[in-house]
Amino acid sequence: MADDLMIAVKPEIAEHARVTAAQREAMVAEATADPDAFWAKEAQRIAWMQAPSIIKNTSFTGDVSIKWFEDGVLNASVSCLDRHLATRGDQVAILWEGDDPSTDAKVTYRQLHERVCKLANAMRGMGVAKGDRVCIYMPMIVEAAVAMLACARVGAVHSIVFGGFSPDSLASRIQDSECVMLITADEGRRGGRKVPLKANADEALKACPSISNVIVAKNTGGAVAMQAGRDHWWADACDAQPAECAPEPMNAEDPLFILYTSGSTGKPKGVLHTTGGYMVWASFTHENVFDYRPGEMYWCTADVGWVTGHTYIVYGPLANGATTLMFEGVPSWPDNGRFWQVVAKHKVNIFYTAPTAIRALMRDGEGPVKKHDRSSLRILGSVGEPINPEAWLWYYRVVGDERCPIVDTWWQTETGGILISPLPGAVGQKPGSATLPLPGVLPALVDNEGTLLEGATEGNLVILDSWPGQMRTVYGDHERFIQTYFSTFPGKYFTGDGARRDADGYWWITGRVDDVINVAGHRMGTAEVESALVAHASVAEAAVVGMPHDIKGQGIYAYVTLIAGVEPTDALRKELVAWVRKEIGPIATPDAIQWAPGLPKTRSGKIMRRILRKIAANETEGLGDTSTLADPSVVTDLIDNRVG
Ligand code: WT7
Repeated sequence: MADDLMIAVKPEIAEHARVTAAQREAMVAEATADPDAFWAKEAQRIAWMQAPSIIKNTSFTGDVSIKWFEDGVLNASVSCLDRHLATRGDQVAILWEGDDPSTDAKVTYRQLHERVCKLANAMRGMGVAKGDRVCIYMPMIVEAAVAMLACARVGAVHSIVFGGFSPDSLASRIQDSECVMLITADEGRRGGRKVPLKANADEALKACPSISNVIVAKNTGGAVAMQAGRDHWWADACDAQPAECAPEPMNAEDPLFILYTSGSTGKPKGVLHTTGGYMVWASFTHENVFDYRPGEMYWCTADVGWVTGHTYIVYGPLANGATTLMFEGVPSWPDNGRFWQVVAKHKVNIFYTAPTAIRALMRDGEGPVKKHDRSSLRILGSVGEPINPEAWLWYYRVVGDERCPIVDTWWQTETGGILISPLPGAVGQKPGSATLPLPGVLPALVDNEGTLLEGATEGNLVILDSWPGQMRTVYGDHERFIQTYFSTFPGKYFTGDGARRDADGYWWITGRVDDVINVAGHRMGTAEVESALVAHASVAEAAVVGMPHDIKGQGIYAYVTLIAGVEPTDALRKELVAWVRKEIGPIATPDAIQWAPGLPKTRSGKIMRRILRKIAANETEGLGDTSTLADPSVVTDLIDNRVG
């Protein structure tokens, strides 16, 4: 890709920018030279019950200890709600747009505060106390945000499970963190279809003895089973509660939430974020990266089940007093103009979505975009996977009419918020590059031996020092935290991504270098899909890799070895696809299953995934050295029987 296609900051944007190029330089210099002073000042952007006097206390070696603002006391819900009441109580906090285009709702800060307090009181009444884990399994309705903030209010640690996950996936997450309560809804809606959340939850809860209460929001009104003593309708639990609820004083390092995410090995990990540093990071990045101004209509299209929804639908925008648009639907229903119709309807100023959505919409050409008025748009954002330059340029030219800067924001569940991104008024953009680190973020490249690489080059992406929004541990398994992130390159945080730095110092993320794949912006461990496959009675062994996919970025390609005597039929292939969807959820649906009588293994029995990735990608020319394989002939067979 041409490194030299630089789209400079337009003068009219620089002129009114919250952060100019010169200001950014000054911020970077101060955050690097004196992090304590810089972050002490930035900490004032949120509300403290007791302001912190100790700012940064972090170590990436030994036991790895990350503490920010450690003697501060606060409650995240106060920053998002209470402190706005005097100044913008009647401003819309959440503008909800339903899956059905004829439905929407406005919730002001005052109303949101009241709804959060009522639920928080109900939760306390059911015995939920500071430190308890509460699972949230919700559709994209206002109650999802209310549930998050109510947990924060009472000091409970929320663990949101995306509504597209299966009962099994839900159960294992509830079990891992021993949640005491589940908050769900009767059903969700997506693209005109219903998602049976309560029925899934009932299935999951058969294996979750730690849950003593379930609060159920009535959404579709669909029939659900309610278990007496355990299940409570939201309205019954909340309506009669007082409209005020005293916020639990939380130490800055008390947990705010757990969010499960996939890694190279084993089950998903519970990424733990704490209160003070996360809130500062959410507010700091939301305001600066999106150049947010009071009164603007801000829309992030993610789901609250992912970290993007946590930080950039709920905590960041609400901390900054924004109006955050919450969308229940999908980009393609009722038609492919849905995003732009919503932009026109609600005069959206800042729009943040994923490359996979852009690529899907590109297929239909400019018509569905141009049909709708997008003159309100000011800033466009991208997140979740590398955006290919072609999609970037289409987003820029067709959606933004070459008027709106694009912020390509690189970050991870683990980082809490954005780490590498342009500040729109300060950093010129190159299509496909996440550009430069935010102030206080120190990315670096290392080779496979861990040696730091200088200048324009490519390597493994590490971060050299802590930032306030960083995850603190893996819930219940600090050793796994150290192993996963700090042992590959000791003393450095390893992201799992590869990256390139060009001659201008711009960062280009090249994708995961571990056994994690990114399917439509959703992170998937190949090991998880493999263990779902081998759990099927007909499967002896499975190896899963990512393959290039036009829309999803990566698709799931599975090599399956059947038990001796089982016939490889199309019916069985369909059954295995359905099996994985049931085990994990629809996001793990294999795109291709190839019958593999044998897998390429080294003499010590290790599967050579490098070869499997090449075959899946149909790059069978340069397979590299296969002489170390126990049985090189299996490769020929796999090439001959490639699927797709
Ligand atoms: C992985 C993290 C960040 C919130 C959503 C995903 C990839 C994310 C970008 C980007 C290139 C990106 C990385 C990262 N990724 N944003 N702008 N450019 N790659 O969070 O599920 O924790 O996944 O997504 O590979 O490691 P996640």
